[in-house]
Amino acid sequence: MVQLSFNPLPFLDSLQQYGDLSYFRMFKIRAFAPNHPDLVREVLTTQRHRLRKLPRDTRAVSQLTGRGILVTEGDEWLRQRRMIQPAFQPRHLASFARPIAEETERMLDRWEPGTIVDMADEMADLTMKMAARMILGVRLDERADLVSGARILSEAFISENRTILRLPDWVPLPHQRRKRWAMALYDQFLRETIAERRLNPHEGDDVLSLLLKAVDVEGDGRGMTDEQARDEAMTLFTAAFHANSMALAFTLYLLTQHADVEEKLLEEIDGASRGSVLGPADLSRLPYTQMVVKESLRLYPPAWALFTREVTEEFELGGYRLRPGNWVMVFPYLLHRNERLFADPTRFDPSRFAPDREQQIPQYGYIPYGGGPRVCIGNTMSSMQLPLILANVLRRCRLRLAHPEQRLRIQASLALRPRGGLPMTIEMREPSKLAPPALQRSSAAE
Ligand code: HEM
Repeated sequence: MVQLSFNPLPFLDSLQQYGDLSYFRMFKIRAFAPNHPDLVREVLTTQRHRLRKLPRDTRAVSQLTGRGILVTEGDEWLRQRRMIQPAFQPRHLASFARPIAEETERMLDRWEPGTIVDMADEMADLTMKMAARMILGVRLDERADLVSGARILSEAFISENRTILRLPDWVPLPHQRRKRWAMALYDQFLRETIAERRLNPHEGDDVLSLLLKAVDVEGDGRGMTDEQARDEAMTLFTAAFHANSMALAFTLYLLTQHADVEEKLLEEIDGASRGSVLGPADLSRLPYTQMVVKESLRLYPPAWALFTREVTEEFELGGYRLRPGNWVMVFPYLLHRNERLFADPTRFDPSRFAPDREQQIPQYGYIPYGGGPRVCIGNTMSSMQLPLILANVLRRCRLRLAHPEQRLRIQASLALRPRGGLPMTIEMREPSKLAPPALQRSSAAE
């Protein structure tokens, strides 16, 4: 089904008519796309031992991330997951408050009222800098080479993972040379950083520092080798920023189209902040902000498609016999626009996630972060980061489409993103709403 490769979103819209499970062919391979929460649950939980991520896709990713957690399977995956998970527990998440607040404020201080910025690029830079501090413990403002490297790697990660024809790295094309340069740069940087941290194990509360201290208590009682720590740090860094940035860009876009939602949101943010930077302790006073983010992730899930799964052992799904070599493709985008799960599914309506209504959404019907044992390991980090960034940006400014007549066009590569960028005009909000810096509460840095 060539349309899925070249024009995926209209293709997915067309699958809505086929009920709970669609069947089609991808380059002669039988492919199945579940569109019912019970079938998705089976794929991601009960039947997951009969499936593996498609080797073609994982090979492309592992070129950048080695044998990181995104691409491994079975016991190797489980051991790494056990050791990485504690770094994302709520107890540790609080230490990310400072990078989130500081990097957002630094970006806002740079913004000039009346100027136009590409919000997709701006959010990509912001979340990249945050990820570098939270995961690698490095400030990218001091390393312009690492910023360029991360942009190149992010592009490579996205484009190669969805390319049908992938050229080998030795082909002397400019983008291949750039990619080799960026990979060598990060490889050297991570090796040096790991060596340094091994010498000073008590420094740093970033994820990499925790990985180096982690021990597989339930397993062999040993820690990660330098090679494993390098691969996991690279995996987490590249996985962390791209989806987050696109989620923010789409949310800011949606707010330009829905003045009523924006107004209600600003009211909540102003009430919660009273002029100060917002931090994790304020999240309980930002319920509507969190609803807006969830609804944006429903309409435009950055991970619109999970990794394709290949059947390794025969099983039945929704009345079909799936045989080894068949593909199962789970599309959050498809489920999130299923009208049996979400009434009037193309409408942006954050009230779907009001506490009483959210409970009615079936667990595997809303899966922006995937589901089952391989659910996104960064979902707790992201669920804290996205509403806080949004609230702190809107605390100080309003954003308008620079070209209001321009329609949103979406590119579905590894993640969904606005095609051709998202130029927006910056309007600063009334200074009276902002407290002078000396009076600002420091909950964000607590
Ligand atoms: C809006 C933000 C994010 C979205 C939408 C997202 C989405 C996803 C999805 C859908 C999966 C499952 C893929 C599959 O089953 O095929 C996944 C896995 C993963 N995500 Fe995220 N993610 C986000 C942020 C993050 C962050 C912040 C990190 C790291 C700090 C991260 C790291 C990972 C890793 C390592 C996996 C693989 C987990 C495993 O296989 O055990 N993600 N993510």
